Amino acid sequence: MSTAKKEYKRVTVKSLVDMKKRGEKISMLTSYDYSMAKIVDGANVDAILVGDSASNVMAGHETTLPITLDQMIYHATSVVRAAKRALVVVDIPFGSYQGDSKEALRSAIRIMKESGAHAVKVEGGEEIKISIGRILEAGIPVMGHLGLTPQSIYKFGTYTVRAKEEEEAEKLKADAKLLEQLGCFAIVLEKIPATLAKEVAESVSIPVIGIGAGNHVDGQVLVVHDMLGMTHEFHPRFLRRYLNLYDEMSNAISQYVEDVKSQDFPSEEESY
Ligand code: KIV
Repeated sequence: MSTAKKEYKRVTVKSLVDMKKRGEKISMLTSYDYSMAKIVDGANVDAILVGDSASNVMAGHETTLPITLDQMIYHATSVVRAAKRALVVVDIPFGSYQGDSKEALRSAIRIMKESGAHAVKVEGGEEIKISIGRILEAGIPVMGHLGLTPQSIYKFGTYTVRAKEEEEAEKLKADAKLLEQLGCFAIVLEKIPATLAKEVAESVSIPVIGIGAGNHVDGQVLVVHDMLGMTHEFHPRFLRRYLNLYDEMSNAISQYVEDVKSQDFPSEEESY
């Protein structure tokens, strides 16, 4: 058997832009830890998002607001160790980039230096253009995020579909153009009408990756725990569940408890 290490061709921000050019759809999933990222990367997902949804999924918070920069760096470091092929993009958390562009740059540099990730993601358009510009000037690739931006949940008041009204749709389109002009390499569009997402994807040369934004964008992203059915209290229309791991895992764990109580586990063969 060969002992040679398997060679992986790393997906880069340029690869994603090239994929859009040739019409190849981009697959992206979240991961927050080494074991999950190893499976996701091994399944040839193009980009892994270390999303601040870790605040909900890993820490049980109601919103993404409480997660800290240190916690994001911890998650990102574990994911980077596992990802041999995928591009790793890390959310800059709430409160670490919005108000002060120098702080935005410091946060982005900490993520890149301490975790070894390949790019950062920020939520918003016009309001944060100075922060985005400063991060880009330092040579750090930035992914934008428009539409439903969970870090602004208390401004929206609800997680319903965004940009259904003309005024908000116009702002979103202008923000997408601005992100492209600033030099972002891609944009996530979350929970907006499919027709609007299509219009945006056709109006910019950088990839548009949707979550609840229909099929006429350049790629899709989902929270991996949701698509695997590990979370079961969340049922948005855009979510396709590929497994029902919540039930599978619960059944396995209940069986383990029963086996321990009945002394069926461990057997002779499982003992030394
Ligand atoms: O934090 C996250 O998981 C995200 C995705 C929902 C796009 O931003």
